[in-house]
Amino acid sequence: MNKMKGIILAGGTATRLFPLTATTSKQLLPVYNRQMIFYPLNVLIKAGIKDILMIVSPEHSGQFLNLLGRIFERHDVRLEFKVQSVPRGLADAFILGENFIDNDNVTMILGDNIFEDDFSRIIRNFRSGGQIFAKKVPDPERYGVVKFDESGKAVQIVEKPQEWISDYAIPGLYIYDNRVCRAARNAQRSERGEIEITTLHNYYLEKGVLQVSTFEGEWLDAGTFDTLLEAGRIVKEKEIYKNFDPQIEKAIEEFNAELKTIAKKQLL
Ligand code: DAU
Repeated sequence: MNKMKGIILAGGTATRLFPLTATTSKQLLPVYNRQMIFYPLNVLIKAGIKDILMIVSPEHSGQFLNLLGRIFERHDVRLEFKVQSVPRGLADAFILGENFIDNDNVTMILGDNIFEDDFSRIIRNFRSGGQIFAKKVPDPERYGVVKFDESGKAVQIVEKPQEWISDYAIPGLYIYDNRVCRAARNAQRSERGEIEITTLHNYYLEKGVLQVSTFEGEWLDAGTFDTLLEAGRIVKEKEIYKNFDPQIEKAIEEFNAELKTIAKKQLL
């Protein structure tokens, strides 16, 4: 049986959050009581994924290494880092991650996406093809969008449709088998010059092996001032920060305790 690997895409330029992102990466900004990156990391660790590739931008790679480089040293999770020199598009993650993925399956999550639900069961039960998700939103033109037919089957997927096709946005959590690497390599650049994740969804849709599931809980893409603020509010209100996997919780606690000790020593 193929293993499941994880990728967190945490690069990009985050111009919409400038000037906050002039000094740090968007995915290291605080969401309530911890850095944003821990929320997507938790989704993967909760699902039992032990090998995780973090894709980061060159400017912030040092900050990611400082925060995450040693955090799982005593825990059974292996983090790898890869620098994406230019933000070529979401699908680039599967080109950069091809050797890492090898012959296994992969779950990719965007570093700025926060979910209330637990996707562990779906991730653990995944065998082959593609599995993505859909959530009804008031502003579908901001996202990749999926249209369902009357029987609930996904029939069309479009990136940021200029003309309305559906209210169902596709959040940044994608599960694929390793055919995704070849599909990403063959993907053409879109009009905005990126290799789009929706091209990969369509690859699986056309083969009839794409599963699209809706879910109940909150989903936030914390990419603007308003959604960042909203993310903090929802994480507190829904107590998402209390639902971390014990392994990641322990790793964060130990690491924070170490940082405190070092800080105190410097004061003496
Ligand atoms: O949030 C879900 C949406 O994410 C999906 O519905 C869309 O289909 C998908 O294209 C994406 O849309 P965005 O316009 O929100 O993507 P954005 O360019 O903001 O990138 C999403 C995250 O990925 C962001 O945290 C930065 C990071 N990123 C982005 C690109 C293009 C990278 O690390 N590298 C990249 O090359």
